[in-house]
Amino acid sequence: MSQQMSVSRPFLRRGWRAWFQVRGRHVGYIAFALNRLTGLGLVLYLILHLMVLSLLTRGPNAWDAFVRLAKSPLFLLLDGILLFGILFHGLNGVRVVLVSMGIGVRRHKELFWALMGLAALLLLGGVWGMWHV
Ligand code: HEM
Repeated sequence: MSQQMSVSRPFLRRGWRAWFQVRGRHVGYIAFALNRLTGLGLVLYLILHLMVLSLLTRGPNAWDAFVRLAKSPLFLLLDGILLFGILFHGLNGVRVVLVSMGIGVRRHKELFWALMGLAALLLLGGVWGMWHV
């Protein structure tokens, strides 16, 4: 038991700051941490989204004011971050599910980078669409 505690203590002492120390981390750890961060971000977004939708009950003026705000550059930046979260979490989630089922276990790193490449392309296309449509 004492041996186990001496292994876990240094990590515990670093606390929440350890989450943001990415130097020297394995890419699998970074993928796991980002998956958790984006998962929690999506939950937060869903709550905010429902709150925004409640504006519809306050009539067209309240909704039009929100739509004007939603077209501002800051909102478009937030939309880009949201799209990144959706793409990273969704595509990395597909990899986790596949590998959990025994599919692509030996080539899971290539699978990760291929899916991240796809995520980057979709992100670029999505951001371009947001600014031009
Ligand atoms: C394409 C859709 C999605 C897929 C394929 C997916 C897949 C996954 C997988 C496989 C995990 C477990 C990761 C692991 O055990 O390492 C996970 C965790 C999680 N997901 Fe998703 N997910 C999706 C959409 C969402 C959405 C829409 C939300 C939020 C509204 C969400 C929130 C979360 C949260 C909070 C966790 C827990 C993170 C953690 O504790 O590490 N996911 N997801």
